[in-house]
Amino acid sequence: MESGEYRPGLDGVVAAETRISYLDVDHEEIVVRGYNLLDLIARKTYVDVLGLLLRKRLPDEGERRALEDELQAAEVPPAVWEILAKLPASMHAMDRLRTAVSALAGFDPEADRPDPAQEEAKGVRIVAQVATVVANLARVAQGREPVRGEPGLGFAANFLYMITGRRPDAAEARAFDQALVAYSEHEMPNSTFTARVIASTLSDVYGALTGAVASLKGPLHGGANEAVAHMLLAAGDEDGLERLIREKLAQGERIMGFGHRVYMRKFDPRALMLKETLGRLVEAKGDPEARLWLAMCQRGEDVMRAEKGLFPNLDYYAAPIYYALGIPIELYTPIFFAARTAGLVAHIVEQHAENRLFRPRVRYLGPRGLKV
Ligand code: ACO
Repeated sequence: MESGEYRPGLDGVVAAETRISYLDVDHEEIVVRGYNLLDLIARKTYVDVLGLLLRKRLPDEGERRALEDELQAAEVPPAVWEILAKLPASMHAMDRLRTAVSALAGFDPEADRPDPAQEEAKGVRIVAQVATVVANLARVAQGREPVRGEPGLGFAANFLYMITGRRPDAAEARAFDQALVAYSEHEMPNSTFTARVIASTLSDVYGALTGAVASLKGPLHGGANEAVAHMLLAAGDEDGLERLIREKLAQGERIMGFGHRVYMRKFDPRALMLKETLGRLVEAKGDPEARLWLAMCQRGEDVMRAEKGLFPNLDYYAAPIYYALGIPIELYTPIFFAARTAGLVAHIVEQHAENRLFRPRVRYLGPRGLKV
């Protein structure tokens, strides 16, 4: 790229060197610290991948147990629950989450030190705190007490248990765990870029994460998964969805859950993987509504491929999984953030360890020489 060249949306611009992850579109591989993310989704748990992202290698059995204990021991300060309880219930769940992530800084005496070593050390605690906050967002907004995790349940099962208030069966816990891994890390999306830009001023990990929540809220990014659920609810059945998509396209609207800056005209490999996860969940549960959502998703996929040559992204197949698991729709995007916190902290640590301030230039289109 020539110096001074303008690329709208920074399309194709390399903004960082990283050892964390890389989207190798040509080889259909999402590399995460050397592993293929699809293998991690198929064979590992979120806790394994958390260890990989934050401690830089897959944990052995003992290390995994130690990570589970660390996650279980993390507490959300009572004042954070009090702050959340005072926010208007009408406030978007991502805005409540943003406030909570920011407030967590107040209870970390080390919050102001942008020191990679101690940020890496406390990353696991932050992931656990964010998950506990996310799981309880709806409950606390209704004036109820937050639910704590149960000892003996693994992290993913516990996260789901705190959301629904019901112990998940093995198929449900596995599907949720796989979705968490699928969301854990994905190179340089807008939210990760936002976090790294904030971190590059040597601002702290909580500030960088708070900015990332705001970025992830938008429907062009993480907000797409809840938009997909609302679209499927409005459609009702397969014919309804086909009609709705055709109407929206005719009006020049975007269909949420389709397209991706990097994959654009290809299937997001994570979406393919979660489509299989959804299929297994539907079989295990035998729930007619979950089966209908799978059929609707297939119809939507066929219509979009034929009409626009566009393929689903991760959010498209995460939405029906969360719906089948009985998760309130307002929590879909916050769950995305909770899962991504691992990847975000890894990026913030890396930015602080090898920092250079982000400070790009502009192409000026305004007037000059005006007299005051
Ligand atoms: N529905 C309809 N048309 C679309 C869609 C879509 N979902 N996505 C892209 N297009 C079309 C655009 O209209 C445009 O067409 P044109 O060239 O005829 O004008 C073309 O494809 C290229 O689109 P851009 O907006 O230039 O692509 P960009 O890389 O900027 O956008 C984005 C990527 C934002 C993800 C886009 O595909 C989109 O809006 N998708 C829907 C929102 C969504 O699902 N977001 C989740 C992203 S993945 C994630 O966060 C996990």
